[in-house]
Amino acid sequence: MKNKNILIIVTGSIAAYKACEVVRLLRKEGAQVQVMMSRAAQEFVGKATFAALTNNEVITEIFPDTPKAGLEHIEMAIDLDAIVVVPATANTLCKVANGVADDIVSTTLSVCEQPTLFAPAMNFRMWQNQASMDAVEKLRNRGFLILDPEEGKLASLHEGEGRLPEIKDIMNGIRTLFEIPLPLKGKKVLVTAGPTREAIDPVRFISNRSSGKMGYAIAKSARDLGAAVTLITGPTALADVAEVSMIKVETAETMAEEVQNHCPSADYLFMTAAVADYIPAKPSSEKLKRSDKADSLKLKPAVDILKSIKGKTKGMTISFALETSNGEEEAMRKLSQKGVDFVVLNYANEPGSGFDSETNRVVIFDTAGNKKELKKDRKDRIANQLIDFVLNKTSKKTQAV
Ligand code: CTP
Repeated sequence: MKNKNILIIVTGSIAAYKACEVVRLLRKEGAQVQVMMSRAAQEFVGKATFAALTNNEVITEIFPDTPKAGLEHIEMAIDLDAIVVVPATANTLCKVANGVADDIVSTTLSVCEQPTLFAPAMNFRMWQNQASMDAVEKLRNRGFLILDPEEGKLASLHEGEGRLPEIKDIMNGIRTLFEIPLPLKGKKVLVTAGPTREAIDPVRFISNRSSGKMGYAIAKSARDLGAAVTLITGPTALADVAEVSMIKVETAETMAEEVQNHCPSADYLFMTAAVADYIPAKPSSEKLKRSDKADSLKLKPAVDILKSIKGKTKGMTISFALETSNGEEEAMRKLSQKGVDFVVLNYANEPGSGFDSETNRVVIFDTAGNKKELKKDRKDRIANQLIDFVLNKTSKKTQAV
């Protein structure tokens, strides 16, 4: 959404504060954002908030005290790429559906012909009101994109359909306006990332050099393709991934529990984490002292997460193999022994590859004997190509069936 000019129209609902997050995410993706607020919206969020978030003046008046040459809403009709009404009240939907243009919001919406998305939020009775339903149907017939509100507890503490759609669904809606393909829309993707930490005593642990960068890049890429993503991550120095459900764990054991809980509903599992193979057999509850003269550490095998979920998921499983030698043989061995659909081989001892590097070079193997090398590139691009490869192969498989 880089350099797209997007107008966010905020109308008067308690969900108005959630529009701040949408603005923040769009800015993060490089879009230019202009905010317009109805009078009622300003009762819920101050316009200074949106001005600070967009670095732009907020439009609130059809006839401002210091008018620009030419009316603002007419200028916008030319400059904009898309309009997003978030939250959209019943009042706004009904007005626009019926051609009412009596304030800055309804006038702008009646003048502009850009792709427009409405993210409604209202009391469930208002959503079910015949006038609102007629308005939504009319607007949909005219080509506007109107998301369905979510079911759940409303601000009034009533239960029903009326909550603002989830932020990730609004973001995906905006991507749809720009015809960005969303091949993973409606799919659930589970990603594991980063290292695990296994305690020796309360202050020391066994871990590895995994930075989590590859797994985080896969989570972002799957999110941008429309998936609902859960990222189960060991300790990393990376910022949380927006619009992704983040689950933070430390040990192989806790990572295994989370993967076991989430894998039954996943459509794709990317097992990127560098999980411990051996863990201290008896971690000490007290800090070990130099005077204890410990010269060896007894280890026991860690849970093999992939093995523990064998047969428990219908999802395509993509496992990683980080090797220092005999990569291809090791990858083929893991492909047959671990019951996975793809193995992604990368090398720990190759410059610009593997742990903690910004780039990676990988070779993907699948059970049909296909092999594809992705040349050294930034990890985010490798993530895109990897997902592309998997989607391509899996859609062919489904077609063949
Ligand atoms: N993995 C796992 N549980 C473990 C260790 C690894 O699920 N306890 C997963 C990793 O997330 C990765 C794949 O298994 O997707 C391969 O990990 P790797 O460490 O390369 O393989 P190992 O099975 O540990 O085999 P080896 O040590 O023999 O290379």
